[in-house]
Amino acid sequence: MEKIGIIGAMENEVALLTDAMTDKKTETVAAMEYCAGRLSGRDAVVVQCGMGKVNAALCAQTLITRFGAGRIIFTGVAGSLDNRIDIGDLVISTDAVQHDFDVSPIGFRRGEIPYTGLVAFPADAGLRKAAAAAAKRAAGDVALFEGRILSGDQFLSTREQKESVTGLFGGLCCEMEGAAVAQVCHLSGVPWVILRAVSDKADGSAEMEFSRFADMAARRSAGIVAEMLKGNSEL
Ligand code: ADE
Repeated sequence: MEKIGIIGAMENEVALLTDAMTDKKTETVAAMEYCAGRLSGRDAVVVQCGMGKVNAALCAQTLITRFGAGRIIFTGVAGSLDNRIDIGDLVISTDAVQHDFDVSPIGFRRGEIPYTGLVAFPADAGLRKAAAAAAKRAAGDVALFEGRILSGDQFLSTREQKESVTGLFGGLCCEMEGAAVAQVCHLSGVPWVILRAVSDKADGSAEMEFSRFADMAARRSAGIVAEMLKGNSEL
């Protein structure tokens, strides 16, 4: 079975997982602490990468090349971009886009990563299925959505920002790391998925909502990742 890499941006997005791990050994690389051990009966490496796409990309590549991760799961919180999706609801990625990437003045599509030919990186079907099944087992009463996740180096907190990114790319929720992990994994052929629980509506109320709900959402998402690994030989 492949070793699983699990990334979260903030401390509360990974705490539940590192607390649950056994046979732990930690190693710090580029100021990020990688916690390797056993989680839900599997070999796993859990790490807090900090916020933003550069941190996320560096972390994903380190998981692959230094720790031998053969699958990567990103867990954490997100802002809702869709009126159907409320605080606390869950989103599993079908694909991920870097909404702030723009090389269109020289002929690329908005969001396209030059020389990959892609605007959206597709998530792994098996990991998506495992995440959805785990969400139903561990949080069956919580609404679950599957769709596009938008990432950028911005905390979206106005209706104008929200409408601007959804007008370009659609998308169910926004965050600051997932699509960078997706690009790194794509380049190395490593299957990946993002699981997010919604902490805010990415509009004028986002700051207040985030401070109130981020902790609950972070723990909800992490709990589902722990469930996802349990007895799942397909991963
Ligand atoms: N993560 C959680 N909420 C977010 C938002 N509104 N914008 C970007 N990242 C987020």
